[in-house]
Amino acid sequence: MLLFWLFAAVVLLFGFVVFRGAPYVPSHRTDIAQAFDELYPLSDTDVVVDVGSGDGIVLRMASKRGARAVGYELNPALVLIARFLSRHDSRVTVFLKDFWIAPLPSDVTVVYGFAVSRDMPKMTAKMQREATRLGRTLWYVGYGSELHGREAEKTLGASRLYAFKPLQQGKA
Ligand SMILES: C[S@@+](CC[C@H](N)C(=O)[O-])C[C@H]1O[C@@H](n2cnc3c(N)ncnc32)[C@H](O)[C@@H]1O
Repeated sequence: MLLFWLFAAVVLLFGFVVFRGAPYVPSHRTDIAQAFDELYPLSDTDVVVDVGSGDGIVLRMASKRGARAVGYELNPALVLIARFLSRHDSRVTVFLKDFWIAPLPSDVTVVYGFAVSRDMPKMTAKMQREATRLGRTLWYVGYGSELHGREAEKTLGASRLYAFKPLQQGKA
């Protein structure tokens, strides 16, 4: 009986997120490395946000390159796993948050997203809103799906780099 409830809890935790975004599938390490070394070379002046951050692999690889890394994740089990795996890394922070309703940190420079194509129009709108709110260019590294109605600055393997420039208030 306990096993049943445990199984039901896991299915529920991993299943309910599909109503709010992509289910958990990790990015390939080689693709993350290529994205952060060649597509958008990270430095210690960068603040990366991963939406949602899964087990935190993207955050740890960003931190290895000197960046500060912030994860927003909806699945509490994955938040705990990511925090545990990143426990020795002071540059990594993971929040239990729904990305769609959470504002980006004010010092963010680049957002990493491994999202489903259904959410691409929403992602484009969110990135544009946040660039305008913060009043500076934000970069978006998209893994997999293309952003809706946007031309990528650069493409490398499965990753694309997009720039979001602030719009004049009132035109966002
Ligand atoms: C495709 S996985 C990507 C995981 C990680 N970013 C990576 O690339 O390895 C998508 C993750 O987003 C989380 N997620 C889905 N919708 C979300 C939302 N609205 N807010 C925060 N996290 C969400 C899922 O639980 C899952 O862990």
